[in-house]
Amino acid sequence: MRHILNTNQFSKAEVEQILKSSEKMEKECKVGKVKKSLADKIVACVFFEPSTRTRLSFEVAALRLGAKVISVENAENSSSAFKGESIEDTTRMLCSYADIIVLRHYKSGTAESASKVASKPIINAGDGVNQHPSQAMLDFYTIKKEHGRLDNLTVAFVGDLLNSRPLHSLMPLLMMYPGNKFYFISPKELELPREYISELKKNKIFFEELHSLEKVLPKVDVLYVTRVQKERFSKKEDYEKVKDAFLLKVEHLKILKKDAIIMHALPRVNEIDTAIDKDKRAAYFRQAQNGLYVRMALLLYCFET
Ligand code: NCD
Repeated sequence: MRHILNTNQFSKAEVEQILKSSEKMEKECKVGKVKKSLADKIVACVFFEPSTRTRLSFEVAALRLGAKVISVENAENSSSAFKGESIEDTTRMLCSYADIIVLRHYKSGTAESASKVASKPIINAGDGVNQHPSQAMLDFYTIKKEHGRLDNLTVAFVGDLLNSRPLHSLMPLLMMYPGNKFYFISPKELELPREYISELKKNKIFFEELHSLEKVLPKVDVLYVTRVQKERFSKKEDYEKVKDAFLLKVEHLKILKKDAIIMHALPRVNEIDTAIDKDKRAAYFRQAQNGLYVRMALLLYCFET
C-alpha cells in the first residue's frame, strides 16, 4: 500500500515514473481515450480547509479513470470532527467505506497521523503549512513541460515562504537535480524555515535570500509567486503589514527573461497583476490544468503494488 504524504518519500526514479505517467494521462485525456483503470474503486475526498483546484481536480481525475467519488468539503463543520471525533477514528471509518482517502487538513502532520491507522492509501492534499505533495508534483511536471528540463534552472520563490506548503514540497524535488540555483525573496517575517536552508547548505546548493525582486528578475528561468497565507496569521495587523510586500506588475515583465515562466499555485489575491495573464510567460493557468493529469498519475501510483 502506498501513501503520498510528502515529496521526500519519493526516489528520483519514482518521480520520473510519475512524470511519465502524467504525460500519458495528458495524452489520453487529449484524445478522449482514458483507460478506466479504477473502475471498481471509490475515492473519498475529505477536506478540512477550503479548496477549488485540489479537490475538484482530484475528483475529476478519479472520475476520468472510472472511479466513483465521495466528497466532504468543510469537514470541520460537516463531519463528526464537529462533534469531537479524532482524525484517527474518522480515518478508520473512511477506510472501511472507500478505497483511497484524499485528505486536506489545517494541522501539520495530520496526513501522517491518519496514515498510521489507515488500511487504505492516504494522499496528503495539504496539511497546514507543512506539505502539499500533489501540488509540488504538478509544479514539477509544469516546469519539465515548459522548459524541457529539470536541471540547471534558476528558480526564484517570492512571497510567503514561511507558510507556503507547495514550496516546502517542491524544494526536495528541485534539489534532486543538479545545477539548480535558488533565490528566496520575502519580507523578513516570512522567510523560508531554517530547516530548508540547512538542507541547501548541507547539499552545497547555491541560494540567496533577498528582500527585493528587481535584482533577481533578469536571472530567473522560473519565477514562483506565492500567496501570503492569511489564514496562518493569528493577528490581522501582522497580515496587513506584509500582505502586499511583493506584487508582480506589468513593468516587471520588461526585465524578465523571454523564456522565463511565472508560476503560482493559485488562488491569486493581489500578488500578480491580472494584466500579466495574457503574457505567454504566465504559466499559472496551464499549471493548474496540469494538476488533473498529475493527480490521475498519483491515484494510479497509489493503487500500484
Ligand atoms: C495552495 C495551498 O492550498 O496550499 N493552493 C492550492 O492547493 N492550489 C496555495 C495557496 O492556497 O496559496
